[in-house]
Amino acid sequence: MEDIRKVIRQSKTLIGPFPTFNVENTAAHPYELFLEWFQVAIANGVHEPHSMTLSTTDPNGYPDARVLIIKDVDQHGWYFASSSESEKGKQIEQNPNVAMTFYWPEIGRQVRIRGKAVKMAKEDCAQDFLKRGTVARAIALLGKQSTIMNRQQDADEALRNQMAILREHPDLVYPSWTLYRTVPEEVEFWQAQEDRNHIRLKYFFEKDHWSKHLLWA
Ligand SMILES: Cc1cc2nc3c(=O)[nH]c(=O)nc-3n(C[C@H](O)[C@H](O)[C@H](O)COP(=O)(O)O)c2cc1C
Repeated sequence: MEDIRKVIRQSKTLIGPFPTFNVENTAAHPYELFLEWFQVAIANGVHEPHSMTLSTTDPNGYPDARVLIIKDVDQHGWYFASSSESEKGKQIEQNPNVAMTFYWPEIGRQVRIRGKAVKMAKEDCAQDFLKRGTVARAIALLGKQSTIMNRQQDADEALRNQMAILREHPDLVYPSWTLYRTVPEEVEFWQAQEDRNHIRLKYFFEKDHWSKHLLWA
């Protein structure tokens, strides 16, 4: 135990060097700044920059979180997809308030989004589903995400069967596959500084426009 404590305490975070974040000249809409940061992430070789942690709450208000990928970003919000019958899907159904967290360690940047998840039209969900790889579609078509499984071998066998069905019917769409849009209400951009005096800029949606403020780190 002593050793692990030492290893943890000696582990380095936020090593740098980091890109510059000029807070004087930021975009009016947070999605524009997100896209700028996303491009910087790609240019700096950030591993899986489209991965984020989606936080939801269960009916008792107990938080839950898991990593997902985003499918798109535009002026209306951030998009992700999953089964509406999964745990997260059920949680979103009863409470659409969600948070999304991106962390890009290579450039010392974190983006936090809070907002409401809304379901996209059935055709958009189906289109998203059909763009997924064959194995991913087959697994989704099993319709068992987040349910209890007896043995790992059950998954192998079920997947083999489902792959055979998909070969016969490649246009099958899992009806519960859902493309969600997180409509943002608050978006915070956090930039690490090598001197540890980190920068935080937060956008707030107020009635019909975005305002932004610096926050103490
Ligand atoms: C990098 C990464 C990307 C993932 N992307 C997705 C995704 O786009 N959709 C999805 O349903 N699950 C995705 N998962 C799996 C989820 O983390 C999670 O295990 C699953 O959705 C079940 O979550 P739930 O039980 O809270 O509903 C991903 C996992 C990782 C590590």
